[in-house]
Amino acid sequence: MEVDNSSQVLRFVLDGRVVAIDRPPATMTVLEYLRDVACRRGTKEGCAEGDCGACTVVVGELSAGPSPNRVTSGHSPNRMTYRAVNSCIRFLPTLDGKELVTVESLQAPNGPAHPVQQSLIDNHASQCGFCTPGFVMSLFALYLNRSEANREEVLQALAGNLCRCTGYRPIIDAGMRQWDYPAPPRWNREEAQSASHVEPLEAIARRPAAAAGTKPSQASSTSGSLKLPGFHAPRTLAELGKALQAGRHGCGPLGHEGLARIAGHRLPR
Ligand code: FES
Ligand code: FES
Repeated sequence: MEVDNSSQVLRFVLDGRVVAIDRPPATMTVLEYLRDVACRRGTKEGCAEGDCGACTVVVGELSAGPSPNRVTSGHSPNRMTYRAVNSCIRFLPTLDGKELVTVESLQAPNGPAHPVQQSLIDNHASQCGFCTPGFVMSLFALYLNRSEANREEVLQALAGNLCRCTGYRPIIDAGMRQWDYPAPPRWNREEAQSASHVEPLEAIARRPAAAAGTKPSQASSTSGSLKLPGFHAPRTLAELGKALQAGRHGCGPLGHEGLARIAGHRLPR
C-alpha cells in the first residue's frame, strides 16, 4: 500500500481507505473535520465540550497480543482495540496511525442495519434522534468488545451519553439485546479483528526516528513522529527529550492552545 510518510502528513484509516492530510490545523477537532471537511454529518454536535456524547465516534488502534474477546486476525501478532471517544474534544492530529469509525461506517451499502442500530429501532429507543448516533457508537464499541453485557455494563458504556426525550430504559434494553441478532456482514466482532483492519494500520504505523549516524539510505521511510506547528507526538523518550529541550511544552493533544481552543466553543460564534 502506497502512503505518504512525511512527518507533516497526518494519516488515518476511514472505511478501509487511508486518509492523508498535509499539515492539518493542530487544533481542528475530529468533529469539525467530519462535519465541515468530510461532510459526514451523521455525527452530531451538541455541547461541543465533551459532556453530552452526541459526537461519539469509535477509534481503533493496534495493540500487541491476543484479543480480550479471543477473536484474532490469524495473520498478525497485533490486534485491534476499539474505544468510543468524544470527537468534539479530540484533535484531528491525534488520529495519526489509527482507524476512525463513524455512524456512517456501520451499514453496508444496501445491507441490513447493524444489530446495534436494529436493536435501538426494535426497542423504540429514539424519539427526536439527535442523540441517537452517539448512543449507536457507544453501544457499537461495547458490541465489538464484548459478547454480552448486563445492565450495569451497558450503563457504564453509556455513561457519557445524554438523551433529553426518549428516556433511558429502552436505550438500555436495546444495549442488552444487541447481541441477539445475526452477525452483520461487516463490523461483526470477528471481522473487526481481521487483516482488513490490522494491515492498513500496520502499513501507516510510524517507527521511532532513525538513530544518529544512520545513513539516509538506511533510514525507514516511516520513521519519525508527526510534527505540525503546535503539535508534536513524540514516540520515544529521546524524541520527547528533544521536544522539551526545544521548548515544545505543548506537545501532545492538549497544550495551552488546545485547552483554549476547546474553551472557545463556549463563546458565542
Ligand atoms: S458534542 Fe457534546 S460531547 Fe461532544
Ligand atoms: S432521542 Fe431526542 S435527545 Fe435522545
